Amino acid sequence: MLTQYSIKMPHAVYGGENAMDNVTEILKKNGVKKVAMFTDKGIEGCGLFALPEEAVKASGAEYYVLDELPPEPSYMAVQKLVDEFKASGADMIVACGGGSVMDAAKLASVLVTDAYGVKELLDNPGMAKKCVPIILIPTTAGTGAEVTPNAIVAVPERELKVGIVNENMIADYVILDARLIKNLPKKIAAATGVDALAHAIECYTSNKANPFSDTFALEALDLILENIVPACEDSTAMEAKNKMQIAAYYGGLAITASGTTAVHALSYPLGGKYHIAHGVSNAILLVPVMKFNQGDPAFCARLAAAYDRCCHDGSACRTVEEKAAWLVNRMDAIVRRLEIPTSLQSFGVPKEDLEGLVAAGMQVTRLLVNNMRPLTADDARSIYLEIM
Ligand SMILES: NC(=O)c1ccc[n+]([C@@H]2O[C@H](COP(=O)([O-])OP(=O)(O)OC[C@H]3O[C@@H](n4cnc5c(N)ncnc54)[C@H](O)[C@@H]3O)[C@@H](O)[C@H]2O)c1
Ligand SMILES: [Zn+2]
Repeated sequence: MLTQYSIKMPHAVYGGENAMDNVTEILKKNGVKKVAMFTDKGIEGCGLFALPEEAVKASGAEYYVLDELPPEPSYMAVQKLVDEFKASGADMIVACGGGSVMDAAKLASVLVTDAYGVKELLDNPGMAKKCVPIILIPTTAGTGAEVTPNAIVAVPERELKVGIVNENMIADYVILDARLIKNLPKKIAAATGVDALAHAIECYTSNKANPFSDTFALEALDLILENIVPACEDSTAMEAKNKMQIAAYYGGLAITASGTTAVHALSYPLGGKYHIAHGVSNAILLVPVMKFNQGDPAFCARLAAAYDRCCHDGSACRTVEEKAAWLVNRMDAIVRRLEIPTSLQSFGVPKEDLEGLVAAGMQVTRLLVNNMRPLTADDARSIYLEIM
C-alpha cells in the first residue's frame, strides 16, 4: 500500500537580487487600496523597514504600520495587534520581520471576525478562514514561518508556547531578499540558522517524513551545513546568506509536509516559561535529543542516508553508526563554533523546576508523536537534566 502525502505552498515566491521590487507589482496587480504593514521596533531600529515601505509606497496604496509587537509574543499581545488591524480596514497584509512578526500577521490574516480570537484558536485552530491576503518577508533565515501554516504564541498561564496550525494561514506571496539579512547580528543569525537546521533534521527523521518532505529537508540540511558558518560570520557573504534564506524556506516546506519532533517538543516549555529564544532553546536540545534518538537503529539509518547526501568533506564513514555519529558531531560543532549556549546554565533555570519542565514537555504530544524513538517522561527528565 502506498502512503499518502501532500504539501500546501504559497501561491508565489520571489528570491534573489532586489526581490523586494516584486511587492510593488503584486499590490498593483491585485488593485490593493490599503496595506497593513506588520513589523517590530527592532526591524525599524536598524533601518530595514525602509525597503518594504518604499516598495509599498511605489504602488500608490495607502498604508498603516503595526509595530507594537515584542519578540516571541503571548497570544494576548498578538490579539491587541489583531484588534488594531481589524480597525484599519486594510485589504492586504505585508509583514516584514522574523518569525514573531510573521506569525502575528498570519493570525491577523484569518481573524477579521468578532466570532473568535487568538485565544479560541489555541484549542480550535481549524475554524479560522482566510480573510485578507498576505505577503511575508522574512528578516531572519530560520523559522520558515513565511511558508508554514503554523503560528506560535506564548501562553503564559500554561507556561508553554503553543503552535496554531491552519492551512488558511499559508502566505499568498513570499519575498526572499538577502539585503534583509545582510547585517543580521551574529547571535540572531546563529540561533535562527540552527532553528532551520533543527527543522531539516527533525522533519527528515520524523514519523511523518514522506517523499515531498524528504526532498526539501535534505536540500535544506545540505545548504545549511555548507553555508551557516560563513552566513553568520561574514557580513559580505551574500551568496551564503541567500542560501540560508532558501534553506530556511525549504525547512518550512519540510515542516508543512512532515513535522518536527522531540527537539521542538521539549523546547516549547523553555520558550514559554523562561523566554529563551526559540532558536537558542532548540540549539541547546538539538544534540542531546539526537544522541537519545541514536538508540533507535531506524533513526540511525535515516541519519546515514542524510550523511550520504550531505557529507562533502572527504570523510569515509562506512557503517550506519559511523555515518550517524559524523552528522551528530557536525551539528554539535556548528552549535559550538557559533557560540550558541549548549546548556540552561546561563538562563537561571533552577533544578527544582525539573519536574515542571518534564510535565510541560510531555504535553506537546502534537510533536512527540512524530519522534521515531518513543520518548517517555523518564527520557525527557534525563534529557532536561543533561542540559541543566
Ligand atoms: N510559524 C512557524 O512555522 C515557526 C517556526 C519556528 C519558529 N516560529 C516562531 O518564530 C518566533 C521566533 O522568530 P525569529 O527567530 O525569526 O525571531 P524574532 O522574530 O522573535 O526576532 C528576534 C529579534 O531579532 C530582531 N531582528 C529580526 N530580524 C532582524 C534583522 N534582519 N536585523 C536585526 N534585527 C533583527 C527582531 O527585531 C527581534 O528583536 C518564535 O515565536 C517562534 O516560536 C514559528
Ligand atoms: Zn523552529
